[in-house]
Amino acid sequence: MIERTLCIVKPDAVEKHTAGAILAKIESSGLRLIACKMLRLSIDDAGRFYSVHRERPFYGELTQFMSSGPIVVGVLEGEGAIGRWRELMGATDPAKAPAGSIRREFGTNVERNATHGSDAPETARWEIGFFFAERELCSD
Ligand code: RTP
Ligand code: MG
Repeated sequence: MIERTLCIVKPDAVEKHTAGAILAKIESSGLRLIACKMLRLSIDDAGRFYSVHRERPFYGELTQFMSSGPIVVGVLEGEGAIGRWRELMGATDPAKAPAGSIRREFGTNVERNATHGSDAPETARWEIGFFFAERELCSD
């Protein structure tokens, strides 16, 4: 099934000037980048985006981190895009992500882990709508 998923290059990876290298890995994987922009979240925006985690102990730190600098957000499209993008990223904790994965190569620790990916079709739809208007999606 052709799916769409949201990717975020998080503030740690933008600060390290690795956003381009991450986008290059995405493009060479065969996933299509159909939307892309750079922006900085307010702490309230970050809180709304990660509201599913509001009861978790790391929520405060996570929203601080995600609003600490610019991010690059994009939409990826392709066969099984949600799972493929999560596989390319690797595990949440870069130390547990396989060699060659994006989080292993570009992440620092379980929080500063370089990228985000949607985890299911419903959340992907909601997350894409959080950042993009329909006319910004350059699909066929
Ligand atoms: P993401 O949503 O960012 O793609 O990451 P994920 O599904 O692999 O991980 P999730 O459980 O959804 O956690 C969201 C983000 O919260 C930060 N985190 N910090 N300090 C901690 O123990 C901890 N655990 C998670 C990470 O930035 C993680 O990507
Ligand atoms: Mg998640």
